[in-house]
Amino acid sequence: MDTPFYRLPYADRRRRLVTASHLTTDQVAALAQRRQSADEELIENYLTTYGLPEGVAVNLHVDGRTVAVPMVTEEPSVIAAASNGGRLLAGNGGIQTTVTQRELMGQIVCQHVSDPAALTAWVTAHQAELLQVADEAHPSLLRHGGGARSVRVRTLAPDWVSVDLFIDVGEAMGANLVNTLTEAVATALRPHLDGTILMSILSNYATHSLATARVAVPVGQLATKTISGAQVAERICAASDFAQLDPYRATTHNKGIMNGVDAVVLAMGNDWRSVESGVHAYAARDGQYRGLSRWWLADGQLQGTLTLPLALGVVGGATRVFPLVAVNQQIAHITSARDLMRLTVALGLAQNLAALRALVTEGIQRGHMHLQIKSLALSVGATPAEVPAVVARLTAKQPTTAQAQAALEAVRQANLTKKDDS
Ligand code: MEV
Repeated sequence: MDTPFYRLPYADRRRRLVTASHLTTDQVAALAQRRQSADEELIENYLTTYGLPEGVAVNLHVDGRTVAVPMVTEEPSVIAAASNGGRLLAGNGGIQTTVTQRELMGQIVCQHVSDPAALTAWVTAHQAELLQVADEAHPSLLRHGGGARSVRVRTLAPDWVSVDLFIDVGEAMGANLVNTLTEAVATALRPHLDGTILMSILSNYATHSLATARVAVPVGQLATKTISGAQVAERICAASDFAQLDPYRATTHNKGIMNGVDAVVLAMGNDWRSVESGVHAYAARDGQYRGLSRWWLADGQLQGTLTLPLALGVVGGATRVFPLVAVNQQIAHITSARDLMRLTVALGLAQNLAALRALVTEGIQRGHMHLQIKSLALSVGATPAEVPAVVARLTAKQPTTAQAQAALEAVRQANLTKKDDS
């Protein structure tokens, strides 16, 4: 029998792919150049390391201090927009944030429960024991000031019950911790359950780890060359209202917020998929998917707020694996999980304001175009050294791929001629 793919040595795995996919020598070299042995231990069937650009957003004034925010993103305009939003919000005290609670939830999913009320009564009466079982499953959590905090029972249908365990995971991201503690409680619960346990797992709907950002911007600050600040502010409020009304717009509105949030979450080595799923569930918490931020006018100022479920951590998981995470934490002066939650929600609000202001004034394309043209030049194969000359030749308002290819050809031709002349 063939050796399973995951058991093959690295060189054999790559050779198999090269043969099966007819990769060229250049393509194989691209895979080989980016290979990093540390990453090989991280995932199964490692092939290469796929790098993303990292930059810093500037101008963000959060809770009384100005911070540079490391962001990892491939979208050309995201960091520029975050810095622009930060600048718009920097006056008047900047962005204020709060984090009232930071607990994660594990759930024990119980099926065929014959008497949910009896189960609820049993769990309530034995809460202290169950919490102790949870804490004993990971004693070091107590030493770090964390631990299991409470248990609740939710009856979701006649025979479906979720037993929810709330845990303070200290400074950690905490997914593994929560799973360990939840499984231990499930084992303790099983003998007392008239029903079956289907699974025990962390919930990514982090409703007990909410972070809120608030701002008040004097409307004059929002003026463009042709539109008064008051008008811009009114239009931003209208855009906010529309995102409450229409899930199609709300999705894009929230995507703009997540442009910033995901980029910070990635830079800080956290699990962006868990943040994404939790945030979107929160956006639909009343049954309709809505915009996550709200903007309104009061006292001649544009007021804004954004609340996000952000179960972020500063230790554990990938934060230890990638050396850049510690560097990024230092750049952003992040020393605790709460710091990171505050900074991330603040950045999300700044990102949202920048997008809305652009959308309701000159439109999004104008400001983006310069950055997108660079990306277009790279996409047709320009080297970084060739990019400025290719961009200079792309004078059309919205250049096409064919025009970019032609510009690159022309630049290469001109370079050849120069060489021949010298
Ligand atoms: C693009 O990546 C993000 C925006 O579409 C966000 C928005 O529409 O609010 C500009």
